[in-house]
Amino acid sequence: MNETLKRIAVLTSGGDSPGMNAAVRAVVRSSMFYGLECFVVYQGYQGLIDGNFEKFTARSVNNIINKGGTILRSARSLEFRTPEGRKKAFANLQNNQIDALVVIGGDGSFTGAMIFQEEFKFPVIGIPGTIDNDIFGTQYTLGYDTAINTVVEVIDKIRDTASSHNRLFFVEVMGRDAGHIALNSGIGAGAEEILIPEENRGLEQLLESLKNSEKSGKSSSIVVVAEGDKTGKNVFELASYVEQNLPYYEVRVSVLGHMQRGGAPSCFDRVLASRMGVHAVESLKSGKSNVMVGVMNDQMQLTPLEKAIKGKSEINQNLLRVTDILSI
Ligand code: F6P
Repeated sequence: MNETLKRIAVLTSGGDSPGMNAAVRAVVRSSMFYGLECFVVYQGYQGLIDGNFEKFTARSVNNIINKGGTILRSARSLEFRTPEGRKKAFANLQNNQIDALVVIGGDGSFTGAMIFQEEFKFPVIGIPGTIDNDIFGTQYTLGYDTAINTVVEVIDKIRDTASSHNRLFFVEVMGRDAGHIALNSGIGAGAEEILIPEENRGLEQLLESLKNSEKSGKSSSIVVVAEGDKTGKNVFELASYVEQNLPYYEVRVSVLGHMQRGGAPSCFDRVLASRMGVHAVESLKSGKSNVMVGVMNDQMQLTPLEKAIKGKSEINQNLLRVTDILSI
């Protein structure tokens, strides 16, 4: 038990994701429930350095569970990458008598948290908040479920126009170097092809498969391309190569971009955020630190930050098999 724990701070860092606010709400209210004080830090690690703190109560987080983005705002702080910057951050935490820090973010944010913990022996705990779902140690990251539902909704709309014009659409989705968004939203939207960085099947296989789709009577097709995919140099070059080699399709490209990061969090993400926020505070109370909260087979678990950062979140090979079968 960490009997000295009296005051917790929480911040959001890196790319925002739907569910971050629900996690902030859960950390604040769990702190209140256990008789702790809770401060929020605005603007991520830069806010730690600038002393941008505010004391929150249970009422401070009213009506945010359903809001996308992060009310604490986020920032990528170059200064926090310097020892001087981290020293300022540590001094601010000490001056505000903060005993532990909850960082809601992705692997880049956890790297900063791990270095900070090592340098100052300051208790930190991570909550995985990124739409990419690319963090080892958790089956789901906050925002991923909302993002894939957003993508499926958009692709359904694109399919309306594709089928009205006998067109082949290349739809690029986010995910950084991971293909989780592409694979799951592609299956959910009934895409004919899904291109992900984890499985480079090459241009010829893509052409062959699209020719078979056309022969089987498909007058339009959707190809979902993860932004990290390496089949072509980029989605536009890929589309033009296919258009040159498949004359019967009119080809169009749609890059979804940052809309995938927005929107009200799904119920799944709200519940996940609530569970993670409670588990983060309870773990700090029990003396744990330098770990990330995660969910595995519906059970909350803790993973050392170093493993969460260095580990790889594998693609579900079974989903690839499903894709191949159902795109017949
Ligand atoms: O990590 C989340 C993410 O949305 C990635 O999917 C994407 O590649 C990246 O952030 C975009 O970063 P930025 O918001 O800085 O353009």
